Amino acid sequence: MSAPSMTLFHSPASPFVRKVMVLLHETGQLDRVAINSIALSPISPDSELNLDNPAGKIPALRLADGNVLHDSRVILDYLDHQHGGNPLIPRDGSARWRRLTLASLADAILDAAVLIRYETFLRPVEKHWDLWLDNQQEKIERALAYLERDCVAELNASFDIAAISVACALGYLDFRMPTLDWRSQQPQLAKWYAEVSQRPSLKATEPPAA
Ligand code: BEZ
Repeated sequence: MSAPSMTLFHSPASPFVRKVMVLLHETGQLDRVAINSIALSPISPDSELNLDNPAGKIPALRLADGNVLHDSRVILDYLDHQHGGNPLIPRDGSARWRRLTLASLADAILDAAVLIRYETFLRPVEKHWDLWLDNQQEKIERALAYLERDCVAELNASFDIAAISVACALGYLDFRMPTLDWRSQQPQLAKWYAEVSQRPSLKATEPPAA
């Protein structure tokens, strides 16, 4: 086994990092990446992470030539071009745009859930903005309802960028918003998720105990 040529700036609780880790597992590239774990929040920046990464994004991937890639979508695209198996992001045609759009919807669930997490965990309770929180949660609920209604067969078709992203979004909801109880409204999505959760890539990347 050769030494890793890339460094992944990593946080075990980040669902965006998890997507990258799942792709590394699924494409057999784990040994190419050294993990640099960073404890990070919007109010505690990390100076090493901010080098060549002015927005302080996590995940970020430092390549062998020193260039730093971010965010998770760019890193996923890069890493999907570095293996010899079937691409997990379709290279062209309507499948590419459809699968990337489903992945983007999953990221929108994550963006809203992470914003809720920051608002409720980092801000003093008397400053919580309930209308704003409600609107973030409604965005999540609309996206889940759409996935249940229109997308389960598509998710079943391939464990690719769309499925990885939706699985990581559902995992994050379980991790940080367990009272949402999304399974009661989305039984088909729950069945799909129960099955894909058994994949070694998802088992190995489960979020840490809350
Ligand atoms: C979290 O702890 O929920 C979290 C950590 C990193 C990025 C996003 C969320």
